[in-house]
Amino acid sequence: MFFQIRLQNYKKNRNFANFYSYLCNMLFNTSSIREYLCACPTGQLFVLTDTNTAAHCLPIFADFIGNLPYHLMTLDAGDTNKNINSVQLVWEFLLKNCATRQALLVNLGGGIVTDLGGFAAATYMRGIRFVNIPTTLLAMVDASSGGKTGCNFLGVKNAIGTFTQPLDTLICPSLLKSLPATEWLSGYAEMLKHGLIADKKHWQDLLAWDIHQQDIATLTPLIADSLAIKKQIAEADPYEVGIRKVLNFGHTIGHAIEAAYIHQGLQPYHGYCVLWGMVAEVYLSVVHTGCPREILTQLTHLMVEYYGKPECNCRQREQLMEYMMHDKKNRVTTTSYLQINFTLLRDIGAPIINQELSRAAINEALEYLFSI
Ligand SMILES: NC(=O)c1ccc[n+]([C@@H]2O[C@H](COP(=O)([O-])OP(=O)(O)OC[C@H]3O[C@@H](n4cnc5c(N)ncnc54)[C@H](O)[C@@H]3O)[C@@H](O)[C@H]2O)c1
Ligand SMILES: [Zn+2]
Repeated sequence: MFFQIRLQNYKKNRNFANFYSYLCNMLFNTSSIREYLCACPTGQLFVLTDTNTAAHCLPIFADFIGNLPYHLMTLDAGDTNKNINSVQLVWEFLLKNCATRQALLVNLGGGIVTDLGGFAAATYMRGIRFVNIPTTLLAMVDASSGGKTGCNFLGVKNAIGTFTQPLDTLICPSLLKSLPATEWLSGYAEMLKHGLIADKKHWQDLLAWDIHQQDIATLTPLIADSLAIKKQIAEADPYEVGIRKVLNFGHTIGHAIEAAYIHQGLQPYHGYCVLWGMVAEVYLSVVHTGCPREILTQLTHLMVEYYGKPECNCRQREQLMEYMMHDKKNRVTTTSYLQINFTLLRDIGAPIINQELSRAAINEALEYLFSI
């Protein structure tokens, strides 16, 4: 079952019930997906997967599209491959198969495939159309919509990229059946973030939903709600000059932890790092912006029950501040001093952007996180 989400048709006025019925009205069936992809000129349909989505999701996609011809390229899975070499491989694949500007690239995968494929499409021949079919929970609720594309460069996450909207994002929750438990938790963390920054009901619905069950039927309306929050915010500020920064909640510290893991040669789960980042940033919110302590207690319980603690030794903990200094969201102030920029919460659904805090305050929050 596919939902099609067209940016231009999406109701600006957020109303979850309406949005959900809107998604259901846009339900794709086998023939409509086929019809949709058939609109692409012969020989100009390109599909990008990684090794895992080629094994688990491509057969389902192939069933949907029947005998429609397409060119397939498969990248090695994993964040270490989200680099300019992989982008170059996609450009080569398109060029060697004579892709013109009429070509359509289908990105069938998690956030790495949708980010990287989107970037390759946005830059190939000054831009060709691409459709995202996200296959992880994280990519369904977050990475595959909003228009951010890119890859890592010189160890800096998503250092190179564009803001380019996909032609469409097609959500098929049943693709999640083969997803490992850790990836479910990774996506669930970004959904929790959407609840915290935008909607108490979404937060409560998520807390009530049993992540152990991995029940796709009861998750589907929650995916729709979470995606509605992401899309509404991203559309209000497509180039992240203001309100879109609320989506970075948990990411200032989360990205630093992620960088520390990568530096150790480990492949962290993005959502786990975001969850840990949110714990530290809710702590900062309790101390500095009056956020109710109960939220910190709830989030800390979730962390202990599902995610465990981040593994950073003392030296790496010292380096976290350095990683935060390289965060893309930082601003140079009038004194030319680079300030670490946070989104904090006054309460659930009441985020505040551009909060700059002292090193001592940040260290105190890290101390809380590592002492749990
Ligand atoms: N563009 C944005 O707005 C945005 C937002 C959030 C995150 N991101 C990016 O997204 C990336 C993380 O996304 P992700 O967590 O989806 O990572 P991912 O693409 O690496 O997928 C996680 C793992 O699951 C595997 N997988 C994917 N679908 C599967 C399926 N259905 N069954 C079995 N295995 C499957 C993948 O091969 C991979 O090993 C990061 O690079 C992050 O920077 C981008
Ligand atoms: Zn994220």
